[in-house]
Amino acid sequence: MGKVNKKLNVKVKGLEGVIAGQTNISYIDGIKGKLFYRGYSIEDIAQNCSFEETSYLLIYGKLPNKTELKNFAEKLKRKRSLPQHTIKMLHTFTKNMNSMEALRTVVSSLSSNDKDPRVSSYNEKLDIGLSIIAKMPTIVAYHYRIKNSLDPIPPNSKLSHAENFLYMLTGKIPESEGAEVLDKDFVLHAEHGFNASSFSVRVTVSTLSDVHSAYTTGIGTLKGPLHGGAATEVLLMLKSIKKPENVTSYVDKILLSHGRVMGYGHRIYKTYDPRAKILKKMAEKLSIKNNNTTFFEIGQKLEVIMSDKKKIYPNVDFYSAIVYHNLNLTHELYSPIFAIARSSGWLAHILEQYTNNRLIRPLEEYTGSMNLKFIPISKRK
Ligand code: ACO
Repeated sequence: MGKVNKKLNVKVKGLEGVIAGQTNISYIDGIKGKLFYRGYSIEDIAQNCSFEETSYLLIYGKLPNKTELKNFAEKLKRKRSLPQHTIKMLHTFTKNMNSMEALRTVVSSLSSNDKDPRVSSYNEKLDIGLSIIAKMPTIVAYHYRIKNSLDPIPPNSKLSHAENFLYMLTGKIPESEGAEVLDKDFVLHAEHGFNASSFSVRVTVSTLSDVHSAYTTGIGTLKGPLHGGAATEVLLMLKSIKKPENVTSYVDKILLSHGRVMGYGHRIYKTYDPRAKILKKMAEKLSIKNNNTTFFEIGQKLEVIMSDKKKIYPNVDFYSAIVYHNLNLTHELYSPIFAIARSSGWLAHILEQYTNNRLIRPLEEYTGSMNLKFIPISKRK
């Protein structure tokens, strides 16, 4: 065992309550249900900023002026297209490869021209990150269309990040309301402190590995159902509950088997997730507009029961699933949408970690056997 820091000698399963480093990117108050990006409340940001503006804030640490925002958005637009060999590669993927697997694989494959991160500058790393942020919607949309035997639709530089993603999925210029909803959803998912995927991104960077490897790690970590994979599971759960009358028996069954109600609970928030509050309003509005309120009603009933029985509230993934469903987005796209949004938070963490790096390597408590008598293979039964 390495040297133990006696003052900090904590062994907490899942690192709960452990402060693993410092950051200037976002602040979460899990007791009061508050979230700030670079000091600005999530309510202000969601109300006033596009995904591009929010990304600028997260990555550069300040709100852009008009020219800075225009240049930043143009830069992302210029980087949206995929190289031909990448498009060819997407065509080779089997039909059972899911969209997060495709995203993880393609992002990883884009690293071939990168300089060694030990000699590349801050701006070169920043540029690689921006290129990945710009390309992620293209990768997801191309994979989705190819998998569904449709021709990929090249990016449209007249459209914003959210508009262009919907356009590349459907081939239609999206209605402004749908694009605005998705844009706000991107903003709400863009950053959240040392969440599992951002932390894993920082661990990768701390070894002085490269930006593409950091993103690949982040996508792989986000994919799990306890993190960014939850929204997909939420939709499947809502479909299986079918109607509000079935909620009580569903929850009883889950709790009895020590299962999880998906889209509920959070490591940090012990109260209502502020992002879920905003998404709930969006989900309600869309459900009423589409005259399709069943899932929203199930959500309302789940809230009451989960709060009564477990004092657990919906997290960001619960109402986002209802929002995506109302935008006619198939559940396979829910986790990659989260990844597209979180890509700007990841870049902020990548740059912050490189700037003030020390290898992230905690201790472990060994609980296995010791001093066993070695038996040569020839004598083992
Ligand atoms: N459904 C039922 N019970 C739950 C849930 C849930 N969704 N979440 C937590 N609990 C219960 C646990 O059973 C446990 O109860 P107990 O003390 O009576 O045994 C208690 O709450 C604490 O649970 P932990 O798993 O220790 O809490 P942790 O902080 O480790 O987990 C997590 C957080 C993983 C998000 C958890 O709430 C969960 O599994 N939720 C469902 C999956 C989900 O929605 N994930 C998305 C999270 S948000 C995001 O990543 C963007």
